[in-house]
Amino acid sequence: SLRIVRTVAELRTLLERERSADRSVGLVPTMGAFHDGHRSLMERAGADCDLVVVSLFVNPTQFGPREDLAAYPRDEQRDAAIAGEAGVDVLFAPPVEEVYPDGFATTVRVGGLTETLEGAHRPGHFDGVATVVAKLLGMAQPDAAFFGQKDAQQALVIRRLVRDLDLPVRIEICPTVREADGLAMSSRNAYLGPADRARAIALRRALDAAEAAVAAGERDAAAVESAARAALAEHGVEPEYVALVATDSLSPVDRVDGEVLMALAARVGPARLIDNTILSTT
Ligand code: PAJ
Repeated sequence: SLRIVRTVAELRTLLERERSADRSVGLVPTMGAFHDGHRSLMERAGADCDLVVVSLFVNPTQFGPREDLAAYPRDEQRDAAIAGEAGVDVLFAPPVEEVYPDGFATTVRVGGLTETLEGAHRPGHFDGVATVVAKLLGMAQPDAAFFGQKDAQQALVIRRLVRDLDLPVRIEICPTVREADGLAMSSRNAYLGPADRARAIALRRALDAAEAAVAAGERDAAAVESAARAALAEHGVEPEYVALVATDSLSPVDRVDGEVLMALAARVGPARLIDNTILSTT
């Protein structure tokens, strides 16, 4: 049954026991407000590892001053029930002072990858993500950690971080889980009223339009991008960005050849939403 842990010391004691019994540990970092995307990561971790730890921490350092830190949905009781049902062993839900005690002075910054897409629109965001993920990996010392392709750039940043700092952990990226109409599940979907919820399908429709263009033989990146922008415009959604980039470096591409990442971000009413797909010519 699910154990809720609040301190790093408690987590360490518990996990040392598991590791000395040769049981593998899987970590799923989250900010809570669980949906089926989170649940899929928990289930994947459970299939891969003997013990599953889910961290629930709304990380203040990854929110900009004008972002939604205060409004971010929080319901630990509901989250604990979902985690328990998904077979999670440990819910690590520390208070902010446990993660960032007085005098905390270190920032982990991943260069290059973080300068584009989300990084360009959310200054400092990935410093907050990289710092908290490095800390969580140090706290739990898992054999494997699980992330979602929904946040494609975040997943690449974490892979880079783990390689660059030689962290002894396997990073697993899991597919994006969607609502029946295609909207990618997100804790921020809770901000959408009925009219905005209906418009939010524009993101998936834009990815569909790009996929259809490539399937029809279009290889020019600008043309594929236009197809996506037209689908967004049809729903009255104005993107922050629509980009075709290399799947590993996130450098812009001119042509679709092999696999290319299409990533987009748009504000829909009060919610800032992101989505992506891999376009493939094979
Ligand atoms: P959060 O948004 O709670 O997401 C936790 C994990 O769930 C991330 O790896 C994210 O990519 C994944 N996820 C979210 N929506 C998903 C979906 N629809 N399908 C599949 N996976 C999905 O991402 C964060 O928290 C934070 O930045 C964190 C990594 C925890 C650092 O604070």
